[in-house]
Amino acid sequence: MLHLEKVSKQYGGSRKEQVVKAVDDVTFTLQENEIFALIGESGSGKSTLAELIVGLQQPTSGSIKWANVQKNAPVSRLQIVFQNPDRSMNPYWPVKDIVTEPLRLSGLPRKQAYARAESLLGKVKLPAEFLERYPFECSGGQKQRIAVARALSMSPQLLVADEITSALDPSTEHELQQLLLSLKQSEGMTILYITHRLETIAGFADRVAVMKDGVIQEIGDTRSLLDEPKTAYTRALLRAGVFG
Ligand SMILES: Nc1ncnc2c1ncn2[C@@H]1O[C@H](COP(=O)(O)OP(=O)(O)OP(=O)(O)O)[C@@H](O)[C@H]1O
Ligand SMILES: [Mg+2]
Repeated sequence: MLHLEKVSKQYGGSRKEQVVKAVDDVTFTLQENEIFALIGESGSGKSTLAELIVGLQQPTSGSIKWANVQKNAPVSRLQIVFQNPDRSMNPYWPVKDIVTEPLRLSGLPRKQAYARAESLLGKVKLPAEFLERYPFECSGGQKQRIAVARALSMSPQLLVADEITSALDPSTEHELQQLLLSLKQSEGMTILYITHRLETIAGFADRVAVMKDGVIQEIGDTRSLLDEPKTAYTRALLRAGVFG
């Protein structure tokens, strides 16, 4: 569905700055309707890769292309949700304004946008009473659901979730993952799920790529990668149990 070919991103390099190869020669294809986990420790280049994919940054070299682009595909084929919901939502807006923001920006009149707000919240299993709440009246997990609902308003083909569960406790993280699993089915979309916690993806992600220093170390279906890791790095991660 989305093909990355030899994608690299370097930072710095001017004057005495050192060059950082944040993403280094990455090639893979995201398939339709899969959950693809991108795993790596802090600084491995996960967020940079996510921003390249959604177009917030341009690669230094390589290409990112949609295959089989659907006719009349909506403008926003991809949406991104970040780790910290407080940085991506206006604290002075009620939830109904937050979830409908992309619809209103795309020109839908406010009244028609509001009419869709309740069903968007329904998709993320939040009751309609949340429409009138403000972000400070919601928990971290609820705010991430609201951020997901806002992304869903554009019917994305690809949802990029960059560490969206990393600040949550394990049971809230699990609930949000279950929600993403059911959304994969009901919305028929692809989810790029970024995390540094390898131990959370069994039974959740279809495929996984392990990244270190900007380079994909290995890639495969989740079960076989966890059962028979091919690289020493992945084996070390599994032995360690958790990332540092
Ligand atoms: N705008 C930038 N300018 C310069 N260097 C950057 C910039 N953004 C990221 N980097 C560097 O690129 C590398 C990869 O950073 P990135 O944020 O992609 O990692 P990450 O895997 O998302 O880490 P984390 O798990 O901490 O979020 C790091 O060495 C980082 O310092
Ligand atoms: Mg990051």
